[in-house]
Amino acid sequence: MFIMFPSKVKILQRLPQLRHTFRCYTSFGKAACSRLVLGIETSCDDTGAAVLDERGAILGESLHSQKESTSEVGVRAVFTYKSYYLGDFFCHTCFSLKFCRTGGIIPTVAQQLHRENIEHVVQEALERSGVDPSHLSAVATTVKPGLALSLGIGLEFSQRFVRQHNRPFIPIHHMEAHALTVRMLHPVAFPFLVLLISGGHSLLAVARGVDDFLLLGQSLDEAPGDTLDKVARRLSLRKHPQCSTLSGGQAIELLAKNGDKKRFNFRTPMGQTPDCCFSFAGLRNDITITITKKEKEEGIEQGTLLSCVNDIAAATQHTVAAHLAKRTHRAILFCKANGLLPSSSPTLVVSGGVASNQYIRKALTVITETTGLHLLCPPAKFCTDNGVMIAWNGVERLREGKGILSPNIDVRYEPKAPLGVDMTAEVRAAAIRLPSVRIKISS
Ligand code: KG4
Ligand code: ZN
Repeated sequence: MFIMFPSKVKILQRLPQLRHTFRCYTSFGKAACSRLVLGIETSCDDTGAAVLDERGAILGESLHSQKESTSEVGVRAVFTYKSYYLGDFFCHTCFSLKFCRTGGIIPTVAQQLHRENIEHVVQEALERSGVDPSHLSAVATTVKPGLALSLGIGLEFSQRFVRQHNRPFIPIHHMEAHALTVRMLHPVAFPFLVLLISGGHSLLAVARGVDDFLLLGQSLDEAPGDTLDKVARRLSLRKHPQCSTLSGGQAIELLAKNGDKKRFNFRTPMGQTPDCCFSFAGLRNDITITITKKEKEEGIEQGTLLSCVNDIAAATQHTVAAHLAKRTHRAILFCKANGLLPSSSPTLVVSGGVASNQYIRKALTVITETTGLHLLCPPAKFCTDNGVMIAWNGVERLREGKGILSPNIDVRYEPKAPLGVDMTAEVRAAAIRLPSVRIKISS
């Protein structure tokens, strides 16, 4: 059995005295030795590293999240940023005056924090695993897509590391890693459909192999998590007693439970465009207009909590869920019409921070039940950015002998890098009309 489940992972991490036995295990009565991969992630604002064996057992990991950073440089930059933009500088993810990636991450600050943390994060992952660099079969590092300055730190560190220890290097596509993580936890065979939804991503693709993807649709503007975070910020939800420690998406989900989604009728985006792309900026604009109108009606200033926050949260969440469900429905129909998924047990994998939203999951469940697909969502810990997913992508590539480079080859990072073959034009040309599906979800 080559699958390692999270509960097992915890047990292994609690038993350091057994470390030396991890690499060799018994399979059908024969001793086999597992190859080990170090994964390094610095594409955005998380510095992550992990050591995995070939079966997907996490031997050691470490993650430094800039969202929670109290580093001096983060705070300094927030104030510098403030003096330039005069906006609201509470982090859109944690709502606190720390490092802010709101109006965007500040790339130079993200770079500085990666620089400060990478050595320690990699050291910690290695120490926790009890693995010496000389025993690694490869080092896998995110080289695309992402913030140029952030990618540069991970790549520079990794190239120095592989040269120093004479280990093979595996450059990783960040979205490929997100899409494959599920295979570390469940025996999902290719091909499968994947929906990635987070603060930075929004795409639908068919995963046909480790390095073989068909891109069916992606966001034309912002990602759904970004939209939820900005709506939460515009609603000043950090001032809400129940939401001060939550991310924007979590705050919206919590308040929506006690809200009436029918009180505000936001139009589902792109209703007249029969493809699988997403757009959230127009929806956010409609929501902002409604919030401004309600503030006038209630005679309150921006920054004060509206009496109807629950209803706005519920209507926002419902519209985002409906948009995601409809584009996913069309992607499934396109796959079926073109024989892109297996006829037996076709699977939809949903990953990314937004995938932890239960209402959105239920909306997607309605679609998968209607179309006969199996829905899989990795646990939240594996949906978000970390070193584990990069190491796992390294394992998948190592097993297939794909994209493994000798340590001396110079690799460049690529801030922009599409995932796989772009099929968005073909999907649009197919102009698939959706049958009406009633998405009735009790909050
Ligand atoms: O994948 P992730 O941790 O980080 C990146 O985007 O890189 O995703 C974070 C995003 C944030 O926008 C957050 O508001 C959203 O995921 N999120 C949620 C929920 N939990 C986190 N959105 C909706 N419902 C949730 N329960
Ligand atoms: Zn990501």
